[in-house]
Amino acid sequence: MAAATGNDNDNGFDNQLKPESEPATVNLSPPLSKNAQKKQLKQQRYEAKKAEKKAQEKEQKRKEGERKHKEWEETLANATEEERLKLIESRKSLRKERMDKRWEEKEKKMERLNRAKEVGQKIVVDVDFAHLMSDSEISSLVQQIMYCYAVNGRSTSPCHLWLTGVQGKMSAELDKLPGFEKWFIEKESNCYIQAMADQKDDLVYLTADSDTVLDDLDPKHIYIIGGLVDRNRFKGITMTKAQEQGIKTAKLPIGEYLKMSSSQVLTVNQVLEILVKFLETRDWKTAFFTVIPQRKRTGLDPVGSSKLEPLSEEHQEEDADADKHDHLERKKVCVEVPLESSS
Ligand SMILES: C[S@@+](CC[C@H](N)C(=O)[O-])C[C@H]1O[C@@H](n2cnc3c(N)ncnc32)[C@H](O)[C@@H]1O
Repeated sequence: MAAATGNDNDNGFDNQLKPESEPATVNLSPPLSKNAQKKQLKQQRYEAKKAEKKAQEKEQKRKEGERKHKEWEETLANATEEERLKLIESRKSLRKERMDKRWEEKEKKMERLNRAKEVGQKIVVDVDFAHLMSDSEISSLVQQIMYCYAVNGRSTSPCHLWLTGVQGKMSAELDKLPGFEKWFIEKESNCYIQAMADQKDDLVYLTADSDTVLDDLDPKHIYIIGGLVDRNRFKGITMTKAQEQGIKTAKLPIGEYLKMSSSQVLTVNQVLEILVKFLETRDWKTAFFTVIPQRKRTGLDPVGSSKLEPLSEEHQEEDADADKHDHLERKKVCVEVPLESSS
């Protein structure tokens, strides 16, 4: 990968983006246009509906638990003493089996994550943008970071995951996540440029605005993802930051494998998932098709691309599955207890 470096100012952060005199919690967002206000209202309605649905699902789950418990009590009440003992014994052993399996999986996960810490691909999520985001954008980002952590934990080839710039509001919001203090992840309050000062030449900021296309992941390199939820309101912000710090930049090779129905700017967790999938498969196409939802792709060949194949039926099916999987995984992640917190 060719280096796309900017100037050599490595003062730690972009002074224009985050004036030193401003406290980290001040919201510097420009006033919203009418259109943006409409969008925000729509988003708020969507969030409210989502919360209502979640509460309904929780209630349904509670009722289902109650029903099962009643059913079990009735079964026991109608059984002979001998049958009762057998039923209780078999339930106990089933539970133990399940617990043992879970424990075994957890141990394996920890082994993989420990190994990733020693030799894994370093990936940083730069969360030093809280001053540019609204409260709801910050909570979206926190959710996305949770997905990143869960996806990495489940992966057979996890990366060595870092969060840098963990301070102020961002730090406070992350601390609210259950078990966050026990996450098997590197947390750094400094910017990566300070925390990894001796590896500056290996830092590569991933940004859709780079001219350099990532063709492979170099184990020596440290890839940085901008921890930002902004609906691309701050277009080019990470590119500028990297240029000002004088570090390399690169974009994902999306255009060589598929055509997007909208922009090629992905969310933090999508980028992390793609990188982790690539580490597992060393195949960009599989990584993109697994992670990018079908609705975001047109399935058309980018002009002049030799690498892209039109969406085959097989792939369309894979894609539908991926979409379903994506949805289920996200649901699962929302209720999953973080790795260490369940111990
Ligand atoms: C929601 S985007 C933030 C967009 C923001 N306006 C910017 O300029 O970076 C979150 C992050 O994901 C990464 N990202 C998103 N799409 C990418 C792409 N196509 N190639 C490389 N990195 C990408 C970048 O690190 C980006 O900062």
